[in-house]
Amino acid sequence: IRFWVVVPAAGSARRMGAAVPKQYLSLAGRTVIEWSLAPFLAHARTAGIVVALSPGDQHWAQTTLAGDAKVATTIGGTERMDSVLAGLRALQDRAAPDDWVLVHDAARPCLSATDLDRLLNELQDDAVGGLLAAPVVDTLKRADEDGRVSQTVARDKLWRALTPQMFRHVVLQRALESAQTNGVAVTDEAQAVEALGLQPKLVAGDADNIKITLPEDLPRAERILRSRSA
Ligand code: C5P
Repeated sequence: IRFWVVVPAAGSARRMGAAVPKQYLSLAGRTVIEWSLAPFLAHARTAGIVVALSPGDQHWAQTTLAGDAKVATTIGGTERMDSVLAGLRALQDRAAPDDWVLVHDAARPCLSATDLDRLLNELQDDAVGGLLAAPVVDTLKRADEDGRVSQTVARDKLWRALTPQMFRHVVLQRALESAQTNGVAVTDEAQAVEALGLQPKLVAGDADNIKITLPEDLPRAERILRSRSA
């Protein structure tokens, strides 16, 4: 199978508190986004990649990705979902409706080639698609308004949603357009697909596939990447 990749990279990343958007921070000798795209650029079955940038992006042109024939760009939107939809629309003339699209966060630089292949192998014949996910290891508490525990949530069937998330182009576009129309704020692609009444498959992935969110995530990502090349 061949697949397409949509990378939402139009976020402002308030939680990082950095002047440069987190996808452009430097990490083990490259930018975060260069690491995030690397497993797809190295994969023989990648048909093409679309990156959704913010309208005022000042940093993309300086990356090594800007000149890559496999990588196109488009302008993202105010919510992550809008950015992914922009990426899907940019692919409309090139991708067939049934082609697989993998959506991967620009801020997730530690995806391994092994996890990417596991996702592709487990889902390529699936009717719905799915996502990489990691089992929850901590005990989870639901809080009330006073910050007191109102409930302990059983963790045995709980997973953390990671990316890539893999769906057919036509399904993902329909799911996200319908979420937009209904004013449903979704935080990942799977949630929009679930709202169509479908059940995405959870594919066990490495917990090291972290999203850079807080400043302390950078040294952690650096350790993970360096341990692989060692
Ligand atoms: O903010 P958060 O970490 O959830 O963002 C996840 C990914 O979605 C990041 O790669 C970010 O750049 C992207 N995003 C986007 N457009 C937005 C908001 C987030 O492309 N409006």
